[in-house]
Amino acid sequence: MGDLVIAIDGFSSTGKSTLAKLLAKELGYIHIDSGAMYRAITLYAIENGMFYDGKVLEMELVPQLQFIDIHFELNHQNGKNEIYLNGENVEAKIREMEVSSKVSLIAKIPEVRILAVDLQRKLGEHKRIVMDGRDIGTTVFPDADLKIYLKASAEERAMRRYEELLKTEHPATYDEVFKNISERDLMDSTREISPLRKADDAIVVENGNLTPQQTMEKVLEIIKDFN
Ligand code: C5P
Repeated sequence: MGDLVIAIDGFSSTGKSTLAKLLAKELGYIHIDSGAMYRAITLYAIENGMFYDGKVLEMELVPQLQFIDIHFELNHQNGKNEIYLNGENVEAKIREMEVSSKVSLIAKIPEVRILAVDLQRKLGEHKRIVMDGRDIGTTVFPDADLKIYLKASAEERAMRRYEELLKTEHPATYDEVFKNISERDLMDSTREISPLRKADDAIVVENGNLTPQQTMEKVLEIIKDFN
């Protein structure tokens, strides 16, 4: 098998990051969660008072983007590439509901997308990467060697995310999670720039009733067939 770029896209909480992480481990590749970048920029905007009345103060954020340093470092204990915002590990903070409820507003700002996509492409320069997100197969790596589009119902996805959050210090109710997922689905698929859509050459994998391990095995089969 040659060195591959693998793109995984899909709606929120389809298990993209879990699949990407398992695949990367299996193949000895790096895993980059592109959503973490949009979340980190959202956290920066929250911490710097750039939201007002439910809206983001774009004119204040855009000139500040040049001062945002985002990088990933491998945590050897859990095998995860964790995200750092201006030197601080923000892996846990960016998963909180406040960030989830605002991130799609940040992700539709053109300058934010340019910054994130640029960084994502740099990380993929040497191939051997599994990246997950919304526009990886369509915009970031249109020539990716393998594109997977993950699908599961909104109810299945909300239940997964709800159960994940229960294990953290900031749980939320199922209804809150379902509402957040539905709102993000709508915003992410209808925004003007790089809306979420399946790339024409992406392979659809439905994983509503599959475990993470089964989903990964299904994708490994696809990789085998395709080599
Ligand atoms: O993947 P995750 O749910 O953590 O992503 C958070 C948000 O970041 C998404 O709801 C979407 O608004 C944005 N995003 C994006 N493009 C990507 C990855 C994430 O717009 N490639």
